[in-house]
Amino acid sequence: MAEAEDHDPPNATIIAVSNQKGGEGKTTTAVNLAASLAASERRVLLIDLDPQGNASSSVGYARDEVTVGTYELMLGQASLDEAVQETELPTLSVIPASADLTGAEIELVGADHRESVLRRALLRGDARSRWDFIVFDCPPSLGLLTLNALVAADAVLIPMQARYFSLEGLGALHGTIDAIRSSFNPNLVIEGIVFCMFDQRTNLAKQVVAEVEKHFPQYVFDTRIPQNIRLSESPSFGKPALLYDIGSKGAVAYLDLADELLQRMEARSTSDEDSDGVHDKEARSPA
Ligand SMILES: Nc1ncnc2c1ncn2[C@@H]1O[C@H](COP(=O)(O)OP(=O)(O)O)[C@@H](O)[C@H]1O
Ligand SMILES: [Mg+2]
Repeated sequence: MAEAEDHDPPNATIIAVSNQKGGEGKTTTAVNLAASLAASERRVLLIDLDPQGNASSSVGYARDEVTVGTYELMLGQASLDEAVQETELPTLSVIPASADLTGAEIELVGADHRESVLRRALLRGDARSRWDFIVFDCPPSLGLLTLNALVAADAVLIPMQARYFSLEGLGALHGTIDAIRSSFNPNLVIEGIVFCMFDQRTNLAKQVVAEVEKHFPQYVFDTRIPQNIRLSESPSFGKPALLYDIGSKGAVAYLDLADELLQRMEARSTSDEDSDGVHDKEARSPA
């Protein structure tokens, strides 16, 4: 696959928000992180890869009203330009999920290079030069849609709750990421793990954080997303939390998460320059 040749290197960072367990905070994180990055004047494209379409409706696109979206893009029935929609935030665009995405897992089975359909669609549309961040909201499974996300992404961001059951999911996801690194996408890294619906008062939460930090040192974001009613209300108004109630704890936590992410990336790029531009990816791959 031809990478940048005559022009400037493509600049978008592609982040898959993934965890194969449902209800861990993926969609809330994908939507509110994307909105928070857009609020810091980054050009952001949110892509809804979950047939449930919750990320789409969280930015104003109800699944049953979407006729052109992720499915049409992946199946080659629509160009990137046709699939991209605007949102209330000027620098946040979205490719919403249409109802047809439900059938994509099955229809993609027979496609040529079925694991890289999304990656190629983004390349064709020159997506990396048009956005600073592309954020995928993944479904709660490790099927072909998630596989396409992990093959197209540079990094995986893992939202999880601080519960013991959530630890099982983390192990399975880690195995999948390793398998994808050794096959389709050797450059895939884990961007980090973010604790969602976090209640700092419980001992269980502290124990789970300690356990995750033991296995994934340096991966856990300092920012914790608290339980916050505004985060669960705002989707039904078709808005990210920062447009619904900018002062709410939930909106502020996701703005902090975006800042932390930007700072981490900045620190990495500075240390890359120090080491002659060699990107130290291994440092972000857990043992
Ligand atoms: N920090 C939070 N505080 C309160 N409710 C939340 C929070 N994060 C997510 N929720 C709610 O929990 C449910 C599951 O979250 P969601 O982001 O949809 O998870 P997933 O995409 O992993 O299934 C949703 O109803 C969502 O509104
Ligand atoms: Mg979801």
